[in-house]
Amino acid sequence: MRIGVLTGGGDCPGLNAVIRAVVRTADARYGSTVVGFLDGWRGLLEDRRIQLRNDDRNDRLLTKGGTILGTARTNPDVLRAGLDRIKQTLEDNGIDVLIPIGGEGTLTAANWLSEEGVPVVGVPKTIDNDIDCTDVTFGFDTALTIATDAIDRLHSTAESHQRVMLVEVMGRHAGWIALHAGLASGSHMTLIPEQPFDVDEVCDLVRKRFQRGDSHFICVVAEGAKPKEGSMSLLDGGIDEFGHVRFTGVAHQLGQEIERRINKEVRTTVLGHVQRGGTPTPYDRVLATRFGVNAADAAHAGDFGKMVSLRGVDIGLVSLDEAVKQLKRVPESRYVDAAAFFG
Ligand code: F6P
Repeated sequence: MRIGVLTGGGDCPGLNAVIRAVVRTADARYGSTVVGFLDGWRGLLEDRRIQLRNDDRNDRLLTKGGTILGTARTNPDVLRAGLDRIKQTLEDNGIDVLIPIGGEGTLTAANWLSEEGVPVVGVPKTIDNDIDCTDVTFGFDTALTIATDAIDRLHSTAESHQRVMLVEVMGRHAGWIALHAGLASGSHMTLIPEQPFDVDEVCDLVRKRFQRGDSHFICVVAEGAKPKEGSMSLLDGGIDEFGHVRFTGVAHQLGQEIERRINKEVRTTVLGHVQRGGTPTPYDRVLATRFGVNAADAAHAGDFGKMVSLRGVDIGLVSLDEAVKQLKRVPESRYVDAAAFFG
């Protein structure tokens, strides 16, 4: 069998570990070969690819961040218009099954290709952990570790200066990184996209903590956190199509607002892409490897139109159609439970 593999969307620690596992399993278990298409779906549209081999170079991919295949975000309309070219590329290269590794956008495209008759097995990835039908995606643990370490460090400097510190972490649509990093670092408040915040309540909490003698206040803000309507006036052009504060960053705008209302120094840190860089944690290496092995197995078993997924301790398959129906947001019960540790 000949397998095609590609990585789409934003990069994520663990992508190379999946590629490594697919190549190793395909070769060692089935005697199959693997072709890597470059720069996401573009590689298929433009027939740009490399031959992947089960060799020493492949073995060393386990710890390497980013993706050796390159990645890109592709407009779904461009993809739809290119269906014939995609099918031609697959035929020209003798590809029997395609394994796209990606987030919501990539998996939605994979599902559409599957409906168009292309044999596909999807692998979910995202540091945001917001893909449905899988308990966890690889990349999340690495991002969480980086965010937690950064917040741990902010505690000591915030304490020395008796400051309010806001830390903006990734999470456009879901607050998994923010919620978990907030809990893991003992932060005082966490703002997530799932629960719009009220600036008055944020300021009241800051005041209360300083009045009872606290030395500092740390608030973790997911980049997709939104103020309740009428709770904070935002800079012009600061809201994107999802209603999120974008251009200036929600944490910076909130920081200015807190400083204006309370006589306290506020400092804001935006962690940004540092959360996506570098080597994956051991947990992510293992999860990515298990996903890769199971994707290669599914490809050989003819389990097409499916996505590998973690449920409890087991890796299984779910239909791609089901997996891309909605994003996995933080359920209310989770942030209500967590609230006891904030404030
Ligand atoms: O989806 C993963 C993610 O890291 C989001 O958390 C973030 O909003 C986005 O990607 C950033 O994308 P880009 O790298 O295109 O700026």
